[in-house]
Amino acid sequence: MSLYQTTASAPVNIACIKYWGKRDTTLILPTNSSLSVTLSQDNLRSTTTSRSDSSFTKTRLWLNGVEEEIKPNGRLDRCLAELRKMRKENVEDKNPNAPKLNTWNLHIASYNNFPTAAGLASSASGFAALTASVAALYGLNSFPSSPSTSYSPPATASQLSLIARQGSGSACRSLFGGFVAWEMGNNPDGKDSLAVQVAPESHWPSLHALICVVNSGKKGTSSTAGMQNTVLTSSLLQHRIKDVVPSRMSAITQAILSKDFDSFAKITMQDSNQFHAVALDTFPPIFYMNDVSRAIIAIITELNRVSVEETGHLVAAYTFDAGPNAVIYTEAEHIKTIIQLLLNYFPIDFAAAPFHDSFALFEGGHPKAA
Ligand code: DP6
Repeated sequence: MSLYQTTASAPVNIACIKYWGKRDTTLILPTNSSLSVTLSQDNLRSTTTSRSDSSFTKTRLWLNGVEEEIKPNGRLDRCLAELRKMRKENVEDKNPNAPKLNTWNLHIASYNNFPTAAGLASSASGFAALTASVAALYGLNSFPSSPSTSYSPPATASQLSLIARQGSGSACRSLFGGFVAWEMGNNPDGKDSLAVQVAPESHWPSLHALICVVNSGKKGTSSTAGMQNTVLTSSLLQHRIKDVVPSRMSAITQAILSKDFDSFAKITMQDSNQFHAVALDTFPPIFYMNDVSRAIIAIITELNRVSVEETGHLVAAYTFDAGPNAVIYTEAEHIKTIIQLLLNYFPIDFAAAPFHDSFALFEGGHPKAA
């Protein structure tokens, strides 16, 4: 008897150009393109094991050891339906001897090696790992079970990103390492709304991300609910979609390709600022940052001001997702200075469970292949 089981893992990604708003909430089609950096640190990953067996009476999912309900026609259900369809069309219809895994139920267990509620993008790594794991089980790709830096994604990673996207928009970007764009596409069927790698991690190894966990609590307004309210009520979002993001996408892509940290940092900070302005322009308004987040912005702004005066260059870029936690991009030579500076303002007792305190800092490593 053969055992049909695979394990795959996927890392967290942090957007420099933010995805915020859907034009189709079922297919998860965004109102603008976005671009992110996939983090390499091994302790910021989701790992998913999927098993298929003809004796399973229903498909079940465990998240961090706790069984979750799979809602009919919910996001997970739709991702699995897409994967089954791909299995049938790409494998079983072509090879009559292939076992009919598409008709068997699945047992799926997924773990995050970071607290799910840490305010980090657990849905992105989670749905990416799940898609990669089931795709590997179904023989749809060549994802290795533990991706290494030398691994280059197969051609199908973009196709699989179409599926991960339907679990959580930002998940499509976690199927690639390095620098990743999610092209919004135009087609109503969403077939052109997919992730592409702009540059591999090896392209800019000196770029690092520092994660500052300001608050590990669950966020007040979820991304899903918040962004739809923004779509319904914010006029600033319309300006962002039409007049701002398209040129920023090309400018940041150029900055990445030419390893121009000044441009990369400026665009990243401006886009974070505008995303939070759009959240504030939502009615009722959404506040994701808190006083500590704003203090981090002030510290980085002052650090950059002094550096520009002395050297003509920026040294760091902050960015904030739908919560108060900061991610700071910088180059290797400045990591120590920045950590020392932040620790000066926010002393941390690392021994006291960093994720549960008001401020914790750890290095997110540099972008790594997924
Ligand atoms: C602020 O991908 O979590 O992190 O598609 O509804 O699951 P859904 O939303 P999600 O939104 C992420 C929003 C963001 C920006 C980004 O990652 O681009």
